[in-house]
Amino acid sequence: NTLGKTITCRAAIAWAKNSPLLIEEVQVEPPKSGEVRIKMISSGICGSDDHVLKGELVVNFPLIPGHEGAGIVESVGDGVCSVKPGDKVLILIIPQCRECDACLHPKGNFCDKQDVLPCSGVMLDGTSRFSCRGQKIYHSFRTSSFTEYTVVPEIATVKIDDAAPMDKVCLISCGFPTGYGAAVNSAKVTPGSTCVVFGLGGVGSAIVMGCKASGACRIIGVDINEEKFPRARALGVTDCLNPNKLEKPVQEVVMEMTGVGVDFAFEAIGLIDTMVAAWNSCNNSYGVCLIAGLAPSDAQLSLEAPKILSGKTLKGVCLGDYKTRDCIPQIVTDYLQNKINIDPLVTYQLPFNQLHEALELFHSGKAIRCVLLF
Ligand code: APR
Ligand code: ZN
Repeated sequence: NTLGKTITCRAAIAWAKNSPLLIEEVQVEPPKSGEVRIKMISSGICGSDDHVLKGELVVNFPLIPGHEGAGIVESVGDGVCSVKPGDKVLILIIPQCRECDACLHPKGNFCDKQDVLPCSGVMLDGTSRFSCRGQKIYHSFRTSSFTEYTVVPEIATVKIDDAAPMDKVCLISCGFPTGYGAAVNSAKVTPGSTCVVFGLGGVGSAIVMGCKASGACRIIGVDINEEKFPRARALGVTDCLNPNKLEKPVQEVVMEMTGVGVDFAFEAIGLIDTMVAAWNSCNNSYGVCLIAGLAPSDAQLSLEAPKILSGKTLKGVCLGDYKTRDCIPQIVTDYLQNKINIDPLVTYQLPFNQLHEALELFHSGKAIRCVLLF
């Protein structure tokens, strides 16, 4: 029985930026008031984790990365009532406190208690639950998932259906709703519309699925890695473009292909250049550009100011604009009822101790998502 005790288990630690992850023995303290300790079952590797490891986001090291996770509640701290030991749960990079301005607003979902912008790496009380050889280890986005056990705030986890296949549903913790929701919930892609999706990784592929489900008739996919194209076509992309192989800037090619620009443009990479290209691919009058990629901490976006007058819309979208604890469990249920299908995104599954092979699959672009199994 581990109740109330510190658990020693394996976790991946990034000791510094750009240094290889090391699987270490760590101590995971019991959950404090308002916190939940979770036995991880599966975790995806998401673009945001890569931004952290490369130092593109300002974070505190050493840390345990990962945030796209599914697990089973091991124990709960005082006052926790929305989950109990034994529950299947997802962890949430964007929590839902139901008290802050964003949570109380009908549309807002960027809860004040998130730890992405900026990243403190500590729990809501300012301390960490992880240590290794006596040294404090930081959390990542208050959700670290590359660990056999994690501790998260109650507001950053949600119970899901008991029948959920735990080796896959981790993708519904972040990548799938981030992309799918950007298309169906935030942009509200219309039937017969033309879309362009920059980046055909996990998030971009889920955007493609959302565009397709919404009845888009043309979906242009943009990626510098052509290994992504066959899978993207299978999901609904009608035209694939590799910007490195074009004679002109990609936005000019999109303009020529469509004549008037696209109805909806999505950026799912996290680079300034592709954000500008997405914006310039939109129809000048009614085009909508959605940014789902997370840009580096110090990046500034510069656009031609006069063109903003012509009527097009620029919008950021985080986790598909879903209020996470309210909406994520329903996405799991929709998956169980075959209303959506995340299976095409789970291209590899590997045991946690093959983390480095999984990262290699991610970096080479061979995987859309490689799920780690604990
Ligand atoms: N132009 C076009 N495509 C690019 C470029 C570029 N300059 N650079 C990278 N890509 C492609 C990669 O080849 C990859 O297919 O972008 C894709 C990114 O996908 P993933 O690495 O799987 O990342 P993902 O998890 O989809 O996240 C994408 O969304 O939520 C954010 O923080 C996340 O910024 C990240 C973005
Ligand atoms: Zn909130």
